[in-house]
Amino acid sequence: MCGIVGLVGRGEAAPRILDALRRLEYRGYDSAGIATLVDGRIDRRRAEGKLFNLANVLGADPLPGSLGIGHTRWATHGAPTERNAHPHGTARVAVVHNGIIENHAELKRELQALGQVFETETDTETFARLMDQLLQEGSTPEQAAAAALKRVHGAFALAMIFAGHPNLLICARQGAPLAVGFGEGEMFVGSDALALAPLTRQIAYLEEGDWAVLDDRSARFFDVADRPVERQVRLTAVSGAATGKGNYRHFMEKELHEHPVVLGDTLTQYLEPTSRRVTLPPLPFDPVTVPRLTMTACGSAFLAAMVGRYWIERLARIPVDADVASEFRYRDPPLADGGAAILVSQSGETADTMAALRLLREHRQKVLSVVNVAESSMARESDATVLTVAGPEIGVASTKAFTAQLAVLACIAIGLGRARGHVSATDEAKLTMALLELPSNAALVLDQDAEIRAMADEVAKARDVMFLGRGTLFPIAMEGALKLKEISYIHAEGYAAGEMKHGPIALIDGAVPVISLCPSGPLFEKTASNLQEAAARGGRIMAFTDDLGAERLSAFAERVVVLPRVGAFAAPVLHAIAVQLLAYQVAVLKGGDVDQPRNLAKSVTVE
Ligand code: G6P
Repeated sequence: MCGIVGLVGRGEAAPRILDALRRLEYRGYDSAGIATLVDGRIDRRRAEGKLFNLANVLGADPLPGSLGIGHTRWATHGAPTERNAHPHGTARVAVVHNGIIENHAELKRELQALGQVFETETDTETFARLMDQLLQEGSTPEQAAAAALKRVHGAFALAMIFAGHPNLLICARQGAPLAVGFGEGEMFVGSDALALAPLTRQIAYLEEGDWAVLDDRSARFFDVADRPVERQVRLTAVSGAATGKGNYRHFMEKELHEHPVVLGDTLTQYLEPTSRRVTLPPLPFDPVTVPRLTMTACGSAFLAAMVGRYWIERLARIPVDADVASEFRYRDPPLADGGAAILVSQSGETADTMAALRLLREHRQKVLSVVNVAESSMARESDATVLTVAGPEIGVASTKAFTAQLAVLACIAIGLGRARGHVSATDEAKLTMALLELPSNAALVLDQDAEIRAMADEVAKARDVMFLGRGTLFPIAMEGALKLKEISYIHAEGYAAGEMKHGPIALIDGAVPVISLCPSGPLFEKTASNLQEAAARGGRIMAFTDDLGAERLSAFAERVVVLPRVGAFAAPVLHAIAVQLLAYQVAVLKGGDVDQPRNLAKSVTVE
């Protein structure tokens, strides 16, 4: 995790590095720091906590210099203190680092034996001191970098500057993304193109094992064997323009309100509204002969994949396994010859999902990824990509990106179903119509703000909350629980409604809100019965349903929020928005840091 930035060029580096770090703060906000070269010497400012602390430090004690590196941290090794804040280094070298250096303990012992004295508990300092040692022994910065990179194991991205070298920045990538930006008489490096968006849109991505040497006019790239290589410079589509909060209090609120537009933008990519047909980009596998699909992802993206699994199995009759990536990669599952996989990720950089991708490809599975960032590592390494068109998502808790994932997976399920002869033209027209109505129905869900706020008033007082759903609403119940935990720190469980009687029912008393996602339809009666079982034991029943469901549930539910009646296929998308809005309202009531909840980061690039 963590975000890194570097700049070599003209003018003051620190203010622009700070600005770029703001766009990387989604990667972590435990501490931040910047180092520059001032009169040939390394100087740095660091602060514990969020970037505004560093901004205050810089305000009181500015950092001049036109060469610099910066870092925003999500702590892995060492507490989130100022002492452990990056950049790390010595008088000779300063280093910022995203990822984990796995063999840091053994290197540290070796370096201590050579007389290096460590000041922090970080794995990063090991790399900095290894560089220092090599420099002391007479290596040039380039020679030292080439040698040091061969000694470290793990997944990381690094950027470093050197005392006495005012026009030199060296960066490296192994398992964590890094982009080099080309400016006018200036060069940049950043964890992603978004960080560099206002500085330049000319970007080259380092490939696995690459390292690069930058001066103010050029970049020289080397591969893992130190051979000079060319890396394509492309014009990135990422723009910094869309990253403000507008008139909203939080990014999460803004992003919730972008649902209608995002769903519309995403669906119109893959649905033809007049013919009501799905039009997917070419798939990397034959949908008719593919024996089995693997779906894997992390966090909310995994819950979207779970919904996708229900849809694909039902509409296309293809067996699907769905697993969180961190389990999938170590489970050693037998993978069918000719099999394929669908990966889901907003960032396209999540370490476990990336590792799953590589494992799948080693096992000759064709990989289709559903990602929100066209230039991400996942998009670049997959056989094919279907993009969500959610735009940048800044709030750590995923909202619009999640529903855009659902929209894409729904289109994939219809497309696969049609190719396999299980979805007729009439079925396809009905299903696509339900999807095409999602943007306007999403707006109706957002209009239920006051009703959801009334439910939030009750939920905010609870210590434990249970979310229940069946079928595709089961993963959405888990999404509701995950969101609530993430941003309001209330313990919540998402459960399959029918499974409640096998354990969680023991927890039910008058203090536990039981929030059911219960639209009318084939599974309604079953879920309603489970709710009555909970009500009979004093449970406080709250429900998201539609007008038909409300008639029945109002008899025993304490609160009922009525969502548009849309049929079973589209219902999970609307319920997802409703539970996200509920979590948001609860978090606001509890006064938490909605966009940057404690301990979390948006893009998790460590295992
Ligand atoms: C983090 C974020 C979640 C996200 C998950 C997977 O945990 O906080 O919102 O769902 O990572 O991220 P991805 O970028 O792969 O969708």
